[in-house]
Amino acid sequence: MNAPPGMERVLFSEEQVAARIREVGAAIAEKYRGRDLKLIGVLKGAVFFLTELARAIDIPVQIDFLAISSFAGHGPGLVRIEKDLDEPIEGQDVLLIEDIVDTGLTAHYLLRTLAGRGPQSLAICTLLDRSIRRIVQVPVEFRCFEIPDRFVVGCGLDFKQLYRNLRYIAVMNPER
Ligand code: IMP
Ligand code: MG
Repeated sequence: MNAPPGMERVLFSEEQVAARIREVGAAIAEKYRGRDLKLIGVLKGAVFFLTELARAIDIPVQIDFLAISSFAGHGPGLVRIEKDLDEPIEGQDVLLIEDIVDTGLTAHYLLRTLAGRGPQSLAICTLLDRSIRRIVQVPVEFRCFEIPDRFVVGCGLDFKQLYRNLRYIAVMNPER
């Protein structure tokens, strides 16, 4: 695919992303072997990461999805579940799969909500971590990459719903 307009540089190539997802998948398999692991993806951004990651984890896993809406510009932390999980998570080891943890507000809200449903354990795995922008602290158990304070697209991350299907992560200047 052609580079999107406004794209400044490739931050992580297709090969770097794939290699790192394999490493993190192996670490997850090691930690959860013999347990009842469920991956929960946050739609839509986490879909691409979740499918790659799930195939890099060589133990049986269940998957489920939820969708949220956030109200940017309406005060921090306003997040609502638009589509809930299909199944309960009680007693399961749950990994919340995110495309990016930025301010942490979304992840914080989701952790709180899911914790109330009685999982055996609950942790976060994110493709990207931009911890410099954190507003609320959230525990990130697994991360593929820490990134600088720049807007990025690709591997599930969008600009106006575009570029999620790029195989690499690119820094983009939406002004250009
Ligand atoms: P948080 O609640 O601030 O941690 O924001 C998380 C959500 O904002 C992510 O799940 C993304 O959908 C979106 N987001 C944050 N940074 C970026 C970015 O650089 N590119 C695309 N989407 C982003
Ligand atoms: Mg988005």
